[in-house]
Amino acid sequence: MMSTQEVASRMEQLTTQINLHNYNYYVRDNPTISDYDFDQLLAELISLEKQYPTLARPDSPTQRVGGSVTKRFESFRHQYPMLSLSNTYSEEELHDFDRRVRAVISEPVEYVCELKYDGVAISLIYEKGLLVRAVTRGDGIQGDIVTANVRTVRSVPLSLQGNFPEKCEIRGEIVLPRARFDILNKEREDIGESPFANPRNAASGSLKLQESSEVARRGLDAQLYYLLGENIAAHTHYERLLLLQTWGFKTPAAVKVARNMEDIMSFINTWDKQREHLPFDIDGIVLKVNSLTQQRQLGFTAKNPRWAIAYKYKAERVSTPLVSVDYQVGRTGIVTPVANLQPVLLAGTTVKRATLNNKTFIETFNIHEGDHLFVEKGGEIIPKIVGVDIERRAAGTTQVMFATHCPECNTLLVQSEGEAGIYCPNQLHCPPQIKGKLEHFIGRKAMNIDSLGEGKIEMLYDHGVVKNIADFYTLTPEQLLGLEKRVGAEDGKMARVIRLREKSVVKILDGIMQSRNVPFERVLFALGIRFVGETTAKKLARHFENIDRLSVAPEDDLMLVEDVGNAVAKSIADYFNQSENLEIILRLKEAGVQMQVMSSKNNLASQALAGMKVVVSGVFSISRDQIKALVEAHGGTIVSSISAKTTFVLAGNNMGPEKKIKAQKLNIPLLSEDDLRQKLGLVNVESIFEQ
Ligand code: IVH
Repeated sequence: MMSTQEVASRMEQLTTQINLHNYNYYVRDNPTISDYDFDQLLAELISLEKQYPTLARPDSPTQRVGGSVTKRFESFRHQYPMLSLSNTYSEEELHDFDRRVRAVISEPVEYVCELKYDGVAISLIYEKGLLVRAVTRGDGIQGDIVTANVRTVRSVPLSLQGNFPEKCEIRGEIVLPRARFDILNKEREDIGESPFANPRNAASGSLKLQESSEVARRGLDAQLYYLLGENIAAHTHYERLLLLQTWGFKTPAAVKVARNMEDIMSFINTWDKQREHLPFDIDGIVLKVNSLTQQRQLGFTAKNPRWAIAYKYKAERVSTPLVSVDYQVGRTGIVTPVANLQPVLLAGTTVKRATLNNKTFIETFNIHEGDHLFVEKGGEIIPKIVGVDIERRAAGTTQVMFATHCPECNTLLVQSEGEAGIYCPNQLHCPPQIKGKLEHFIGRKAMNIDSLGEGKIEMLYDHGVVKNIADFYTLTPEQLLGLEKRVGAEDGKMARVIRLREKSVVKILDGIMQSRNVPFERVLFALGIRFVGETTAKKLARHFENIDRLSVAPEDDLMLVEDVGNAVAKSIADYFNQSENLEIILRLKEAGVQMQVMSSKNNLASQALAGMKVVVSGVFSISRDQIKALVEAHGGTIVSSISAKTTFVLAGNNMGPEKKIKAQKLNIPLLSEDDLRQKLGLVNVESIFEQ
């Protein structure tokens, strides 16, 4: 048992280490620790804070994990209004700006060139070095307090380092990196929610989420470019950026001090070419007069500073005829119209297809058959349709009529009240919906059956051996052995035949077996009920505890669960009203798939470690006692020393070297805590704590 003093000093040590690693990873982009080791440090701190809440610091890095819920965002009046920048698309207007500046300033003028981040403006207020408030721009005069959500953004320091003033305000941009945007949109489409149009909208939507743990998951980033406050010993904008860096902020990576138009244009042109390689979107560059004295002399108009201007990049745009419209059917039945365009060269690539999003999009733009459509490609990689070239419209054409029947199964399409999406209601027999559901079911965040990739699902479905998710659990080796699928015939590649042999059959069946240990909340997500994503599934599982109670819950009861509104409740009730679904659930239950939450009162959580003898060595993210409880809850036994009878060694940090050598000698496998979690179907730290 550690004394309170030892606990406090361990917590302090962890806090320092975690802060440093966060800084290296999120601000310097230069991590010096593995994700796994980092998670261990964080989990240890979370656990200590749970046990000793009075020792938890207000700026603890555990705050970044989120957890608080803000029901209503309070407004806050900005101390200095949050102005926007005047902007231009032309070089000539930049010259005009430079001339206006030089007309006021007689000394030489320097400009700082920065990237113009395409995100959401934010103001961060620090008092005595602690982040006390984060406020959105709002109308420029007052914005919303979104502190809990901004705390989860890892590149925003919760406390400052070095020599900072008593009080200061730092402004910048919250952005969502493209890679995170793609993941987020894929997840949204996967549960039948409409995707965000661009990373900026996604970032802005994320800041307004009520649940900060969900914000934490989204992976927002922050770029800070403006420091306000008194008694700051830095008299140029550039020095202030450097100062911000010493306090721990991520400031614009690409900054350049320019003395003339030539320098400025070279910065603009370089980033026009490079911007598609940046991890986030920019929509231009910003020029700022460097000297703060000169900035003061120039002052402000009612809306903008006179010492800064934004130069915006023109998105490249072409117009090309619409040849036809395809309709794609997703897992949840949502039908997405996709335009086939006459191939056209745009910003270096040939564009042949672009999404038309939904019926409302076609109606809003009033897109007619054969119209020439404007297609744009900005900093983003994906081309988008931004309008119709009306002047080139042929006489007598009519608006594109949205498909009335499913292109895959010919069922009459429907539109639910209050929803933009049109979908195919034939959930149980429409082939892309079934294949999509099967793929979703085996996915990493669902049942995690990684021995069944996308190609194999198609093979099983096409051969008629798997028609629904319950069929996985009655598969026999005979059904699988020798199944074939032709692949790679398109794009001029030689067709190849893949055939299931014994080894893969064993792997597939083993993977399916193992999936019976996946906890109920993930099974619920895996069922693929429309609008039920990972988080909602978790909440439903906690509330109803088992599938029997959930399946008979009336819509009103479903709505008692946080985040479950009308549409979600209806979708859940509809799912359980279908007898085919009830039959599938019964079969899954019979197969041993988890249909209730595990509680410590239950004797055994699973049989995953039944009969296994486990030696534990090293330090873990949870206590030894918790590790022991975990192993035993899944049927394993902890033994103290390694022998030939040991099944595996659970190896933590700083594992004893003698144990390692002995394990190697006897050929006993070493499993990390992560491996164990995977084996038990527990992916995150949280689920371990729940044991
Ligand atoms: S400076 C008083 N610098 O663009 C000037 N703004 O239309 C404060 N933005 O509201 C803004 N990147 O949200 C500045 N490097 C940058 C920027 C930037 C993006 C945004 C900001 C501002 C808008 C101006």
